[in-house]
Amino acid sequence: MKLIFLGPPGAGKGTLADLAVEKLKIPHISTGDLFRAAVKEGTALGVKVQGILASGGLVPDELTIALVRERLAAPDARSGWILDGFPRTIPQAEALESFAPADQVVNFEVADDVVVARLSTRRVCRACGKIYNIRSMPPKVAGLCDACGGEVYTRDDDQESAIRTRLETYRRQTEPLIAWYGARGRLVTIDGVGEPSLVLERFDAALAGAR
Ligand code: AP5
Ligand code: MG
Repeated sequence: MKLIFLGPPGAGKGTLADLAVEKLKIPHISTGDLFRAAVKEGTALGVKVQGILASGGLVPDELTIALVRERLAAPDARSGWILDGFPRTIPQAEALESFAPADQVVNFEVADDVVVARLSTRRVCRACGKIYNIRSMPPKVAGLCDACGGEVYTRDDDQESAIRTRLETYRRQTEPLIAWYGARGRLVTIDGVGEPSLVLERFDAALAGAR
């Protein structure tokens, strides 16, 4: 199954993808995670995109499309994937159609005030990427990842000004994809508010209904 997770920053795409891949046995491919890994490793790509990520803007389409194309060619992506955070523009969606069309697009609906509340309290493990929230899903030991013991930190783009920019970028450049995929009959929209286990139930039901 080839799935796209669409939704504003903080909609819970990464959190739900981590839950869903356990069942579906397909890789979770997040372009944000790929870019952050490049920044951490100090690669040429990482140097190019670091400032863009921190400000909340979008990485140019050519770079992003090339990265995804290469990642989807890896052997583990043969039987399917969850693409989280890609496509984010119409040209990205058109490119994906040409080399790996998705079966279904899952659109997570979450209001802006919920996004801001979630992202200003999010923490992420620097080593394994596990997602926490100091209010609703804190690590057992403050500052340390439950899964690997790594340092739990605040993403550079989870500062209030970058959160606002990301939301504006989303509304302007990414939200039009809802109509784009809707017109192609491959979109399901689910409410992203509620416990992650409840959102997972809605996701299962939406996929079953779409088949
Ligand atoms: P990316 O990493 O994709 O960031 P994003 O889209 O802004 O999404 P987030 O990761 O912030 O949110 P999420 O929906 O995954 O929420 P999460 O599960 O963490 O991209 C980062 C940057 O990379 C972009 O700004 C851009 O610069 C660049 N980039 C990436 N892809 C690109 C592309 N295709 N083109 C160009 N540039 C690109 O949850 C958030 C918080 O809420 C957590 O604390 C979590 O614990 C909590 N939470 C989650 N679910 C629930 C729930 N159900 N109830 C309560 N709390 C919840
Ligand atoms: Mg994410």
